[in-house]
Parts: sequence; structure tokens; C-alpha cells
Amino acid sequence: MTCTVIAGAFWGDEGKGKIISYLALKDKIDVCVRTGSVNAAHTVWFEGKRYALHMVPAAFVYDKCRLLIGAGANVHVEKLLEEIKETGVENRIGVDYQSSIIEEKHSLQDKTSAHLKGIGTTGWGVGPAIEERVRRTAKLAKDIAELQPYLTDVAKEVNEAIDSGKKVLLEGTQGFMLSLFFGTYPYVTGRDTSASAICSEAGVGPTRVDEVLLVYKSFMTRVGAGPLPGEISKEEAIKRGWFEIAAGTGRERRSAPFNFEIAKRAAVINGATKAALTKLDALYPKCRGVRNYDDLPQEAKDFIREIERQLGIPVVLIGTGPDALDIIDRRS
Ligand code: IMP
Ligand code: MG
Repeated sequence: MTCTVIAGAFWGDEGKGKIISYLALKDKIDVCVRTGSVNAAHTVWFEGKRYALHMVPAAFVYDKCRLLIGAGANVHVEKLLEEIKETGVENRIGVDYQSSIIEEKHSLQDKTSAHLKGIGTTGWGVGPAIEERVRRTAKLAKDIAELQPYLTDVAKEVNEAIDSGKKVLLEGTQGFMLSLFFGTYPYVTGRDTSASAICSEAGVGPTRVDEVLLVYKSFMTRVGAGPLPGEISKEEAIKRGWFEIAAGTGRERRSAPFNFEIAKRAAVINGATKAALTKLDALYPKCRGVRNYDDLPQEAKDFIREIERQLGIPVVLIGTGPDALDIIDRRS
């Protein structure tokens, strides 16, 4: 597989960061393109350190991977420079000339809007920044002095990489149910988060993609307002071991059991060819740290089989713990 799109199936926080960092190391990914904006945080555990990446692609853990930020992305300059330093990737990261810039004023507009407060946005200002882009008054990466050393034509780079048979990952952010088009509008983010939109933001045409790997969590979570079918109380979530705090904003996540109807719809509209399932150990504690499929308890195997039956795609990667290597890899 040459070009793989990675997208989240629910409301974000499915564990895409972990899956991407695992694939980067395991498959020796040559190029990884991040899309979206600073509102999303991808958590990566690497060499005993935890990273919550808002801008730098999660594949940074593989030191030969070229890291790119696509033309459709929305760049927070300060955060990007801070993360470039933290991850030490200055010599292998590129930002598209035409990616747009998110500024402090956008965050202020986000936080002072009663409407956006009701939606429960992250407050980073992504909605207002995209509004400005649509109005055609936004600053672009090429206008920013500090970004000059990193500027590149991402679409050109990534298509040439695909031409020469290199391994490419397109890193989606957030989740399908937060899509501006397909999510729980108006309780959504300011962009389409589906696999097609990820390709569009990176500059990769639909015929060039080999796999769409959709990342599911073993239960569902969401932060901010809006419907969450089957939602359980915070007390119940704590009891079940599902209670989480958001990596990006420190907010408490709401939770609900895995919903097959939502999962199926996500598989269809994203054109998923494969699924990853994270946090299986939160549902079945006996799965913790298991790295061989055969060692899973029967009830966990039954759950996976039911997902495969209903979605019609194989569950190829299964997360069983926080460590990057706490993964069952069924691909070969
Ligand atoms: P915004 O993207 O900051 O405008 O927020 C809109 C909605 O999307 C809110 O419900 C946020 O909590 C949610 N959201 C945005 N980004 C993420 C993410 O990366 N993970 C989870 N929820 C997110
Ligand atoms: Mg996140």
C-alpha cells in the first residue's frame, strides 16, 4: 500500500496519534501530510515521553519521515514553531505556501461569540479563521517571515512521492461526526473531516489513494455540546474506566457505548477499506498489553468479529494499552 488516508470515525480522540506513530515506525513511512488545524491534539507516546501534537504530524517518531502540512490546513505559527523545536524536526518539515494562518484575533472571536460558546468549541479560533479564508482576506503561510525556511509545494511533493512508490500517510484530524457536512450540525467543527476532505486538503486526487484506514475507539467520546447517542453519566464512565480528559483543552469527555449504526455510516461515507480499533482494554481489562490476537479473551474476539461483520471491513490494528507497541497487528 502506497497511499493511506487515516481518519477518525467518531467525534475525534479515537487514538489516531497512536495508530499513525505506530505505522510510521513499523512500516517506515516516507511522507506524512497533516491536515486540519490547531484545535486537534494527537497524543503520541515516544521514548517514554508524551506529546500532544497540534501541528506537527504524528509520524515524526520515524526519523526518516518527511513531514508536511497541506495547502488546506490552517497553521498556528507559534504552536508550529514550538512543536518543531520540541520534536527536533526542523530539517524535515515542510509547510505549503498556500496553507492559511490562524491568529490570536480568531481565538478572541471564537471565545467571545455566544453562538460558538454554545457549540462548545475548543476556543482556538478555527471557525473564525476559516471564515476569513472563505472571505479571501486570510494571511497565507507564504506571507509569514518565520515560515520562509519551511515553505514548499506539498501537493507536488506528495504526488511525486506516490509516483515513485514511496509510502505516504495522509493524517486526518478530529472525527467524522464532527464533519461540517456529515456530522451533528451545528455541533460540528468548521471543516469537513471525512477521508475525501483529507485528500483534498493534502492535494491528492481520489484515484491515488490505496487504503482508507478508519480509526474507531471501543467506546465513543465527545467534548463540547451536541448529541451523543447512548450517553452515560460521568459516574458510570468512571466506573467503567471510560472517563477521559481531552489532550488538547483539558476538558472532560462525555462517553457512550460503541454505536454500530454510527460506525457503519462512517465506514460507508469515508470509503473505509480497513479499520483500527483502539482502547480495547477499556472494555475488556484482560486485553491490557496483549499483542497477539489469539491471546484475547473470547468476548473481545466476539466484539471484533461483530464489528467486521457489520462494517464489512477487517479490523487490522487493535490497541490494547497506552504504549506505542501495545498493538495487535493483524495485517500479515
Ligand atoms: P472547534 O473545532 O474548535 O470549532 O470546535 C467545534 C466542536 O468540535 C466542539 O464540540 C469541539 O469540542 C470539537 N472538536 C474540535 N476539535 C476536536 C478534536 O480534535 N477532538 C475532539 N473534539 C474536537
Ligand atoms: Mg485529540
